[in-house]
Amino acid sequence: MRVELPEPSAEARAHSERLAALIRAEIAQAGGALDFARYMELVLYAPGLGYYSAGTTKFGAAGDFVTAPELGFVFARCLARALAPELAGGGDIVELGPGSGALAVELLLELERLGVLPERYRLLERSADLRARQRNALLARCAHLFDRIAWLDAPPAAPWRGALVANEVIDALPVRAFALREEGLFARAVGVDARGRFVWREIDADAGLRSAVERALGDRFASLPRPYLSEVCTLLDPWLDEVTRTLERGSAWFIDYGYAHGEYHDRARRSGTLRCHYRHRAHDDPLILPGLQDITAWVDFDALAHAGEAAGWRVAEHATQAQFLIANGLGEVFAHAHAATADEAARYALAQQVKALTLPGEMGEKFRVMVLRR
Ligand SMILES: C[S@@+](CC[C@H](N)C(=O)[O-])C[C@H]1O[C@@H](n2cnc3c(N)ncnc32)[C@H](O)[C@@H]1O
Repeated sequence: MRVELPEPSAEARAHSERLAALIRAEIAQAGGALDFARYMELVLYAPGLGYYSAGTTKFGAAGDFVTAPELGFVFARCLARALAPELAGGGDIVELGPGSGALAVELLLELERLGVLPERYRLLERSADLRARQRNALLARCAHLFDRIAWLDAPPAAPWRGALVANEVIDALPVRAFALREEGLFARAVGVDARGRFVWREIDADAGLRSAVERALGDRFASLPRPYLSEVCTLLDPWLDEVTRTLERGSAWFIDYGYAHGEYHDRARRSGTLRCHYRHRAHDDPLILPGLQDITAWVDFDALAHAGEAAGWRVAEHATQAQFLIANGLGEVFAHAHAATADEAARYALAQQVKALTLPGEMGEKFRVMVLRR
């Protein structure tokens, strides 16, 4: 896929080059080939330099991509309606990867309107820059609720009950990339060419990758056409266990783009699911623009269900985003918001928001919602 990308500024290039130098040093230490998952971790999260650790605008019109909460309030208001029964008897919300804080703001305001405010709303955010942004957004709109709001840099250590919410977080977990060829299974790693650019290298699969791929592919390991490139998120099980371990009673809500019902590994999709976003252009080359672009992989919801069950959870709901929003008051949210304004431009923007959230070609079917409960 060739996409014309805007030229980064000199300052952005210099920043990217600092991160690239660090990665090249790690590649050299690793003998010339660094596993893709480690590369992805560094480009997204290297302290002070990675895409999510450094202070650039990522979300919204001025950034690189737009998420459902960034489109407007509709997504959050429907999610609030879904969460309301969970919170009726008390409990907290913990939000993972809260981005700009847009979801937290609208969720809190809608839960307040519905009379079911959580006792505490805690945001798990490791980036100081994003924390500051979330704080400003919440102070601007929810100052009166500030005594309930707190930030965490790790999952809650003490037992709690309520709801864990993660919108577009699993797609940002580093994945291992692999290639199935006539000759066998290979790990896709990152090397450096003579001009210092990052290039793909394939190395023999280690035992951990082999067993993860065999588990994810099942019978398809033998039948998928070669070459077949894809990804597997080996971090998913330990991550899910870590973020939900102290949630004693309640639910965990994961919203992300992904595949389910055995569709992740499909003979028609032979070059994987890695997606990169740079200033609203989507492409599939994670080896360029280190630190300047977002890198994601589609989520395997079958694997998420297995990880949940292994961690003692039951899958309570699983739907496309469109089905989920419609089942949780989309019509009513739209009607109220439409009636609340006579401004035609605002009504048009509202209709566009609903379309973007629900149309199959937009977020409606690419995004899925999975609710785990215990
Ligand atoms: C694509 S952004 C989504 C932001 C926001 N939830 C939204 O919908 O606009 C992904 C977020 O997940 C966060 N993230 C990635 N790995 C995480 C982890 N292990 N724990 C918590 N947050 C994580 C990133 O820092 C980033 O803020």
